[in-house]
Amino acid sequence: MLVFKTVRELQQFLSTVASNSIGFVPTMGALHQGHLSLIEKSQQQNELTVCSVFVNPTQFNNKEDLLNYPRNISADIQFLACFDCDNEEKRVVLFLPSENEIYPNKIEKNYDFGNLSLVMEAQHRPGHFNGVAMVIERFFDIVQPTKAYFGEKDFQQLAVVRNLVKQLNLSVQIIGCPIVREANNLAMSSRNERLTPEQKEQAANIYKFLQHAKQHAKTLTVEEVKNNFVDSIKNIPTLQLEYFEIADGNTLLSINNWSETNYCVAFVAVFVGNVRLIDNVTLHKD
Ligand code: PAJ
Repeated sequence: MLVFKTVRELQQFLSTVASNSIGFVPTMGALHQGHLSLIEKSQQQNELTVCSVFVNPTQFNNKEDLLNYPRNISADIQFLACFDCDNEEKRVVLFLPSENEIYPNKIEKNYDFGNLSLVMEAQHRPGHFNGVAMVIERFFDIVQPTKAYFGEKDFQQLAVVRNLVKQLNLSVQIIGCPIVREANNLAMSSRNERLTPEQKEQAANIYKFLQHAKQHAKTLTVEEVKNNFVDSIKNIPTLQLEYFEIADGNTLLSINNWSETNYCVAFVAVFVGNVRLIDNVTLHKD
């Protein structure tokens, strides 16, 4: 598999391949089946896929989280090498830039995503989406992709990226991809590597309780569904709830009545020990 470490090398390569479509899959590494599902989707839809691995410092509002973030480039390269990366019809190349390549002049940008900058992840991780937007704008400028792939696991991030593309009037098409789960239904995440087997088992309750919320949507009130979820999490001593929201899937504004939207999503952030996990489930979409 071809690996590029500098913008110059990558762009030189991209200028030599006569490819009609470039798919782009940005990641922070510690690759798993969730990332792979994005890469496979891109391989189906493009002749060439660029996958980046870059642990973006500007999106971490917590220094410890940045330090503890799992990094294992050789395992990532091995993982990717198993998946037909050098097949000319669906080639995958890896972009592994240093911080200097991505932020050569260290200029901080400021974005306004309206309500998306205020709720849930934005509220609990100040500056997070500003950092995501900075790195994604820079990557789009370097790679000039036709399509870019993002997971619905990070639902609010996907909404922010769509908003960024609209604001900057970029031609890249954003493709949202469904959440890939472990056998016990825990949403796959690089952070799961830091959970003990017991913690993983307990974290599986997050999805179970989201499914309860889905079953009771529209029969109970929004408030009752919220209260039930909060109480269920409280009963598992190792889980610490940060937030649970029921919101419109387009605006991400909280709802009080089911009739306020026909696209309704439940969002959750939970700490298991010092590992922060997020998940979401669509409650109804008519
Ligand atoms: P990272 O957490 O590595 O995720 C990279 C991409 O994989 C994101 O689009 C994320 O939503 C998707 N993904 C992660 N787990 C998934 C799962 N279980 N199912 C489906 N998709 C999943 O998200 C980031 O990195 C960064 O913020 C990034 C976009 C790379 C910018 O730095």
